[in-house]
Amino acid sequence: MSQMSSSQHSQIASVNVTNLVQQFEQRTLFSVDSLTFRQGDVIYLQGDNGTGKSTLMKILAGLLKPTQGKLIATGFDKSAWWHTNSLLGKAVYLHQHPYLFDGSVRYNLTYGLSRRELQQPTISQRLHQAIEMAQLSQLLDHSASNLSGGERQRLAIARAWICQPKLLMLDEPISNMDKHSQKLVLAMINLLKMQGTGLLISSHQTCGLTALCQQHWHINHQKIHTSQHVPNLDTQQDNLAMEPSYVLAK
Ligand SMILES: Nc1ncnc2c1ncn2[C@@H]1O[C@H](COP(=O)(O)OP(=O)(O)O)[C@@H](O)[C@H]1O
Ligand SMILES: [Mg+2]
Repeated sequence: MSQMSSSQHSQIASVNVTNLVQQFEQRTLFSVDSLTFRQGDVIYLQGDNGTGKSTLMKILAGLLKPTQGKLIATGFDKSAWWHTNSLLGKAVYLHQHPYLFDGSVRYNLTYGLSRRELQQPTISQRLHQAIEMAQLSQLLDHSASNLSGGERQRLAIARAWICQPKLLMLDEPISNMDKHSQKLVLAMINLLKMQGTGLLISSHQTCGLTALCQQHWHINHQKIHTSQHVPNLDTQQDNLAMEPSYVLAK
């Protein structure tokens, strides 16, 4: 488990789900007896296209009610969560194609920050760091709608980083991205890991990203298999490269 920063609470945040079953129109996507995603975990979520990686993340984020199952979130600051859905936003889900607001990059980075329980100097400091890390300083006054895929993802991760979620789920964070953005995103994810943020990362690319993961969840044959270590996936990567569904879109 990674070292926690002093700003984080002593109680480790987690989301646990038991007796989970997800079906769409009678078709069982996956089931699992119990899954726990904790602060400090860095988990590689593997599964072929369509096996349910994004669906699982949305369930853990409280965005999708599973067909069956009980979710419990512990170790979160109650006062910050006024939603009627008590699970929403605790484990933060970052979409593969992140939603950005109309407006500038700066606006997207700062929107909603003042309403969070962060002190102003902390906000300014983290904002500055995020801009540096994601190399967004030249783009601050650009319209977010004109950003490339890689720049959008960097902005979305920078925004998440400023808000310091305890649990963050990154759905295919380096897919369809130029090498420069991939490198920056990897560095940002590594920093999140060093801070002790719980990370659940789905990817079909095993380079770099999976190397920094410490646990492995694998959706296979409608089951979610969990392991405390990431297997050597080099040979599987060769197979993935040959599979047409994994060819990156231009
Ligand atoms: N809201 C939905 N209604 C019906 N089927 C869905 C819905 N969401 C996802 N699915 C189906 O569930 C399967 C898994 O989707 P997804 O979680 O996106 O897989 P992955 O992220 O592993 O590629 C797909 O076949 C998809 O079409
Ligand atoms: Mg997906």
